[in-house]
Order: sequence, then C-alpha cells, then structure tokens
Amino acid sequence: MNLATRLGLVVIVIGAFSGTIAVLNDGKKAAAQGSNKVRWESSKQCQECHPALYDEWYGSHHQIAFTNPEVRLLSDDFRKEECMDCHLPRPLAVTGFGKRTLPRRTHFNDGVSCITCHLAADGGILGRNHRPEVPCQPQASAQFSIASACASCHNQHGTTDQFLASHFAKQGNNCATCHMPEIERVRKDGSKRMGRKHVWDGCHNKESLQSAGKFEVTVEAGELVLSLSNVGAGHNFPTEERHRAVDMMYRFVTNEGGENKTSQWHRAYRFRQPYRDEQEPINEGNEPGENTQLTAGATKAVRIKIPAGAASAEARLWYRLTPFIGDDSPQSTLLYEQRVNLK
Ligand code: HEC
Ligand code: HEC
Ligand code: HEC
Ligand code: HEC
Ligand code: HEC
Repeated sequence: MNLATRLGLVVIVIGAFSGTIAVLNDGKKAAAQGSNKVRWESSKQCQECHPALYDEWYGSHHQIAFTNPEVRLLSDDFRKEECMDCHLPRPLAVTGFGKRTLPRRTHFNDGVSCITCHLAADGGILGRNHRPEVPCQPQASAQFSIASACASCHNQHGTTDQFLASHFAKQGNNCATCHMPEIERVRKDGSKRMGRKHVWDGCHNKESLQSAGKFEVTVEAGELVLSLSNVGAGHNFPTEERHRAVDMMYRFVTNEGGENKTSQWHRAYRFRQPYRDEQEPINEGNEPGENTQLTAGATKAVRIKIPAGAASAEARLWYRLTPFIGDDSPQSTLLYEQRVNLK
C-alpha cells in the first residue's frame, strides 16, 4: 500500500473518529459549561464563533498547504515525508516556538490550521490578550504573535532573518503588520471590534506584489535607466523559494525610413536566489551562485545604451513563480509597464 492510499485510509478513519469527538466535545456546549477541557483539534471547531475569520483562512495558502496541487506534485504526493513538517504541522507551542514543526497525521484539509498557531501547550488557546471571560478562554502569549512564531516554517530560505535585519523590524513592525492587516470585525450582538485579517497575501496576489517594488524608467545622458526599489517587502524581493524571480525587461522602438520597428524584449536584470547546483550566474557580472534578490529598502539601477534611431523605449517588471517560463505563462505576473519617448 503506498503512502497516498494509506493517508486516504487514515482520512476516512480520522474523519469518522473526529465526528465522534465533535459531538462529545462540541466547542460551544463545553465552553458554555465554563469547562477548560474542550479538546481543540480542528479548525472547524472555531468556525461557529469565528465565521468571518474562518472564511478568510479557508482558501488561504495556509489552509491549502497539504492539498495544494503544486506541493503534491513536488513532494511526490507526500511520499517525501519530510515535506509534511511544515505543510501538515503539529501545533507550534507543542514543538516550541521558533523550532521546526513536526508532522501530524490528521485533519489533512486543515494544512496550517487554527490549531497549529493558536493551541497552547496545555491544550488551551493562545491570543494576544488574556480573556478568561470569553468562551474559548484565550491566554495571552507574547511569543505567538511575533516573527519568531512564523520562523518555525518561514526561515528555511532566510525570510525571517532578512526581516529581522530590515528597517521594518527596527521600527517595531512584525510579519503580521503587512501579512495580517487590521480589519473590523462584527460581534454577534452587532458591536464592532478590530481584528487581524487571516488571508496572508503574498506572492500569489498582484496587489501585494505591486506594493513590494517601486519601478522607475528614466533617460539620463543617452542611457535608459531601469530602477527597482524594494519599498514594501519586509524582506528580500523576491523571497523564500529559490524558484521565485523578478525580471526587469525592456525593448526599443526604432524608426527607420518612416517605419517603426520593435526590437525583441531583453532582460536588463533578474532578482533571484539561484538553485544550489546552478552553474550560470543569474546576470552578467554576478558570480555563479550569487543571490541577486533585492534586500528591504535597497535600490538596483541598470543603465542601457540607447541605440541610434530609437524613438521610444518600453519597460516591464515581471514576477515569476518559477524562473524558466515565458511572459505568456499564467505563472508570470506583469506588475508594471512603462513607455518613454526618446525624441
Ligand atoms: C463558543 C464560541 C467560541 C469558540 C468555539 C471559539 N471562540 Fe475564540 N472567541 C470567542 C469570542 C466570543 C471571542 C471574543 C471576541 C471579542 O473580542 O469580542 C473570542 C476571542 C478569541 C481570540 C482573541 C483573544 C484576544 O486576544 O482578544 C482568539 C485568538 C480566539 N478566540 C481563538 C479561537 C480559536 C483558535 C478557536 C478554535 C480552536 C476559537 N477561538 C473557538 C468565541 C469562541
Ligand atoms: C507551521 C508552519 C507555518 C507557520 C507557523 C507559518 N506559516 Fe506561512 N506558510 C506555511 C506554508 C507551508 C505555506 C505555503 C503553503 C502552500 O502554498 O501550499 C505558507 C505560506 C505563507 C505565505 C504565502 C502566501 C502566498 O501567496 O504564497 C505568507 C505570506 C505566509 N505564509 C505568512 C506567514 C506569517 C506572517 C506567519 C506568522 C504569523 C506564518 N506564515 C506562519 C507554513 C507556515
Ligand atoms: C521548514 C518548513 C517547510 C518544509 C520542510 C517544506 N516546505 Fe514547502 N513551503 C514552506 C513555506 C513556508 C512555503 C511558503 C513560502 C513560499 O511559497 O515560498 C512553502 C511553499 C511551498 C511551495 C509553493 C506552493 C505554491 O503554491 O506556490 C511548494 C511547491 C512547496 N512548498 C513544496 C515543498 C516540498 C516538495 C517539500 C519537501 C521536499 C516542502 N515544501 C517542505 C515551508 C516548508
Ligand atoms: C499562521 C498562524 C495562524 C493561523 C493559521 C491562524 N491564526 Fe489566528 N492569529 C494569528 C496571529 C499572529 C494573530 C494576531 C495576534 C495579534 O493581534 O498580534 C491572530 C489573531 C487571531 C484572533 C484575534 C484577532 C481577530 O481577527 O479576531 C482570532 C479570533 C483568531 N486569530 C482566530 C483564528 C482562527 C479561528 C483560525 C483558523 C480559522 C486562526 N486564527 C488561524 C495567527 C494565526
Ligand atoms: C513591510 C511589509 C512586510 C513585512 C513586514 C513582511 N512581509 Fe512578507 N511580503 C510582503 C510583500 C509586499 C510580499 C510580496 C513580494 C514578495 O514576494 O517579496 C511578501 C511576500 C511574502 C511571502 C511570499 C513569498 C513566496 O515566495 O511565496 C512570504 C512567505 C512572506 N512574505 C513571509 C513573511 C514573513 C514570515 C515575515 C516576517 C518574518 C514577513 N513576510 C514580513 C511584505 C511584508
């Protein structure tokens, strides 16, 4: 029996089992009895009292971490079991904040679940504030809401270290400042309070990607200058996975004998951390293996000689989820486009 089949069976068994637990331990009933003994084990248990928040999380990359087709493909349907550590993790507080999480074998559709982040070591619930009067009785934890909580899974490629070295961290921000912005929530009685959006937009969201970089195209002393500044990513841009890439591209329109001719697109610069076995440098002038990601706050400008007869230039900034693809691929996102007249 292969792992996938075995997991399938486990899903069925656990499914039946957790149904029983849900009846025995219905969150609301137990909470109403003032009992501390609710066994929190699935995100579903939080849905009834936190419906809007549940809907945000549902469909997020945290929720799909175990079901995501991209991940299933690369992990050989999780036959590479080490991939489960972060894609189907046990609670952070149980393993220890900042430590690498351990894999679980239950609730496959929950991926990185409410329980992963919010379960306390004693089986209670962690939050920002101590709220014994609230049905789920959250306990205040300073550890769970800071960058080190995200680091358990998000430092494999240095994202957390990049953030900690940035001016964003020095100004007192954390990962949630950008990835879990404040949002208004409505209580059951209609009154309002502030909460935190549980969607974690990142590189799969165009607006979020656009907020990372400021792209400028100017003409200086006969040269076309393309420049990108990392103004909005609290870490390198791009970050994490080595297959993410950001490309600055340009082309010229020349006028020959009254006829416009458009050149091919050329790549002025690629921002990326290369794979370990890559021999070719990312850009001309880089060392093989050199990481060309743009650090937080940094600017990279590239100057290109303008060819004789050029009437205008076009420039584009692309984000690519994986490096060796073209502009037509759905995995390429056009972030910015600019045209400058040269005459
Ligand atoms: C029976 C209803 C109920 C259930 C079930 C429930 N909660 Fe709550 N929870 C509440 C209420 C009510 C509040 C208070 C909201 C407010 O501030 O008005 C709350 C507040 C919270 C807070 C915020 C604490 C703070 O810092 O202010 C967290 C975190 C939380 N819940 C997490 C969870 C998680 C995770 C689950 C599922 C494992 C869960 N809750 C299940 C009713 C529930
Ligand atoms: C237990 C491991 C774990 C923890 C803790 C964790 N994450 Fe994640 N996170 C993941 C995994 C796994 C993915 C990718 C899942 C996928 O795409 O299949 C992910 C994806 C993301 C993404 C990318 C979304 C996108 O567009 O691809 C962001 C942003 C993110 N997490 C932010 C955070 C923040 C902020 C924290 C801390 C509050 C945090 N994560 C804590 C495991 C974790
Ligand atoms: C140490 C924690 C950790 C381990 C172990 C891990 N991942 Fe991830 N994975 C993440 C995080 C965090 C992200 C989100 C960041 C990102 O998308 O770059 C992610 C994202 C991904 C993505 C991108 C998903 C998307 O939709 O773009 C793929 C694919 C992936 N992982 C595959 C794997 C495979 C295959 C393995 C096992 C060889 C593995 N991961 C092991 C933490 C981990
Ligand atoms: C990747 C970790 C992570 C996951 C997964 C996660 N949370 Fe949170 N949650 C946080 C962090 C961090 C905060 C912010 C604490 C603060 O205010 O600094 C938070 C805040 C909250 C709050 C209080 C703010 C608000 O918006 O009401 C509630 C309630 C809550 N979470 C419930 C849930 C529930 C229910 C789920 C699952 C549907 C869930 N969380 C999934 C990390 C997580
Ligand atoms: C100042 C705002 C800001 C802060 C702070 C910040 N990020 Fe981001 N993050 C972004 C933006 C913008 C993007 C999209 C551009 C990119 O991918 O770099 C992003 C992208 C991501 C991605 C998607 C990368 C991928 O390849 O899938 C992950 C994961 C992530 N951030 C995690 C974190 C973690 C963990 C922290 C804290 C250690 C953090 N971020 C702090 C703004 C921020």
